[in-house]
Amino acid sequence: MNIKRLKGFRDILPAEASAVRRIESVCAEVFARYGFSEIRLPLLEETLLFNRSIGEATDIVEKEMYTFTDAGDNTVTLRPEGTASAVRAFVENGFAKSAPKARWYYCGPMFRRERPQKGRFRQFHQIGAECFGFKEPAADGEMLALLWDLAGALFIRERVSLEINSLGCREDRAAYIDELKKFLMGKTGELCENCKTRIEKNPLRVIDCKNEKCKEATAAAPSILDWLCGECSDHFSAVRRILDGEAIPYSVNPRMVRGLDYYNRTTFELLTGELGSQNAVAAGGRYDGLVETLGGPAVPALGFAMGVERLTLMLGEGFGGDCGQPVYCVFRGEEGAKAAFSFRRKLILDGIGAGMDFEDRSFKAQMRSADSSGARLVAIFGESEVAEGKVSVKNLSDGSQSTLGADEAFEMISNFYKSA
Ligand code: HAM
Repeated sequence: MNIKRLKGFRDILPAEASAVRRIESVCAEVFARYGFSEIRLPLLEETLLFNRSIGEATDIVEKEMYTFTDAGDNTVTLRPEGTASAVRAFVENGFAKSAPKARWYYCGPMFRRERPQKGRFRQFHQIGAECFGFKEPAADGEMLALLWDLAGALFIRERVSLEINSLGCREDRAAYIDELKKFLMGKTGELCENCKTRIEKNPLRVIDCKNEKCKEATAAAPSILDWLCGECSDHFSAVRRILDGEAIPYSVNPRMVRGLDYYNRTTFELLTGELGSQNAVAAGGRYDGLVETLGGPAVPALGFAMGVERLTLMLGEGFGGDCGQPVYCVFRGEEGAKAAFSFRRKLILDGIGAGMDFEDRSFKAQMRSADSSGARLVAIFGESEVAEGKVSVKNLSDGSQSTLGADEAFEMISNFYKSA
């Protein structure tokens, strides 16, 4: 029987997994400095949670969710994103009332039944941040600065660009949508089939459509920024002033509407030209009404999520860094095997990862294993070394080799790594 993984689902093999681990740990450090604590949320939630928060007329809810009825007859869904669960947890665990200010981050898998392509999978991973309790533009500034600093810590600032927009408040959006619908009604003949049906259900998505025909037809569509009320307009200007003051580069894209319904005011995307059509490395915005929608008090909130697969595609597996075993022990004969085994274990106990073959193969074959393991030093336990209680240490980077007493060799390797 030859069972394969499901389409759009991936095995994250060790080299990529170590890059992911490094991405997560770099991000965790930056999150901690900004005062964000980790939260771990369930993968499975009641379907209603996503319908209510992401929106019934969105692509995610309409056609991308993994929804099923469990044995207890509950309709449940594998989470397609983390914000809805974070808000549910915020309300359900009493934070909304007792401590309505919180900064959380999370890392983990999300599930959307989209058409798989480069940078788009059915199970993918997000590193997300959510901040509750701040209505001030400084909180938007903090989120954008945090995202920009994560891009800095991951060394991708030169390879991404930040776009921002404001979707205003509910009233602004309602007035804008009326105007937009009028405009789109005059363009129905020029729109793709999908957008024709979106005019009624979700007209904002039409101006965000990637289809060239639709882009042309909506080139002169009204801009949401012209429909912002005084307060929303001031809020957006204040956010922009913070970015300018912090010298964080961005551009304003009034056509960025986001595919989830809960947003208001500031929205943003971190884009790259390196991943084809899946060009968003991260995205987010404000969602001031969601805590209330999900049964809590009126607590303003905002956040973003980064796509981990998109980051690893950009950074490459090499981002995982050196292998965990920078030393490799090779040996000859039974005595050599024993000496190498003990030496390796002593290194490991001293905090230095070391590998070895257990099979008494030719030196050449063992050296090949050392090379492919990514080790930088090889400790050699040949017959002559073992007879004299010595070890030869070879530096694989420059080819140099010296033979030392076992204790000296251990000291030398230990110093080599501790001073590196
Ligand atoms: P989103 O734009 O749907 O927003 O997803 C955020 C990021 O997740 C995207 O920019 C992308 O990098 C990654 N992503 C999304 N779908 C896929 C996929 N099928 N395959 C690979 N990567 C993907 C949200 O999910 C919001 N919850 C973000 C947020 C948090 N807004 C406020 N707080």
